[in-house]
Amino acid sequence: MDSQSFEHLTLIEHPVINRDLTILRDVNTSTDDFRSALKRIAIILAYHALKELPLKEFEVETPIEKTTGYDIDQDIIVVPILRAGLGLSDALLQFIPDAKVGHLGMYRDESTHEPVDYYSNIPDGVEDALVLVVDPMLATGGSADDAISFLKKEGAQHLRFISLICAPEGLERIGSKHPDVHTITAAIDEKLNDDAFIVPGLGDAGDRYFGTT
Ligand code: PRP
Repeated sequence: MDSQSFEHLTLIEHPVINRDLTILRDVNTSTDDFRSALKRIAIILAYHALKELPLKEFEVETPIEKTTGYDIDQDIIVVPILRAGLGLSDALLQFIPDAKVGHLGMYRDESTHEPVDYYSNIPDGVEDALVLVVDPMLATGGSADDAISFLKKEGAQHLRFISLICAPEGLERIGSKHPDVHTITAAIDEKLNDDAFIVPGLGDAGDRYFGTT
C-alpha cells in the first residue's frame, strides 16, 4: 500500500525517518531511545506540516538598515490525542512556541476497539485557527475520527492530522468521513491484526513512550 492509494495524504520520506522508524519498531529499544527517535521523526513531520503557513510582512531594523521581516499569519492550535500524542506535540511547539494547545483524552476499549473519551480541553479561537491533531498511531481510525468530529462540533474548520504510522483501514476511515482533513504521516503499514494493532507497527506507542509496559 502506498500514498498514491489515498487522497488527502502526504507520506514524508527521509533517510532519518527510515532509521528512526526501525528503532521505534524494534521490541528491544529502550524507553529512552524510543523517546529520542520519536522526537526526531516528529520534528521532520512538524517541518512539513507547517510548510505552507501564510506569512505577514513587517519592517524590521537590523543593526545596518531596515528590511522586510516576516511573521506567521495564522493562529494555530495543536491538539494531541492523549496520551501518545504528547510525543508529537512537543516537536510542533518548538517551531510554533506561541501556539495554543488543546487536549483530548481517549483510550481504545480493548474488546470493542472503539475510543472511550475521558477528557477534553480546547482553547478559544478554534473556529479560525489551523488545528493540528496529533497522534502517532492511526489504527482503526476511531480515535482520530472521534477527535476530528469533536473539534468540528466545537467549530474547527481548518484541520490537519499528523501521525507517525497509519494503517490502511484508518486512512480509509478518515479519508471517507473527513475528506477535508489532510493527513501527514511517516509510514503506511500493511494492515491491522485481529486485536486491531497495526502490523508490523511498533506496539502501543503510549506505553512505549511513557514506559508503562
Ligand atoms: C492508541 C493510539 C491512538 C489509538 C489508535 O492509543 O495512540 O490514540 O490507540 O487506535 P485507533 O485508530 O484504532 O483508534 P491508546 O488507546 O493505546 O491510548 P494511549 O495513547 O493512552 O496509550
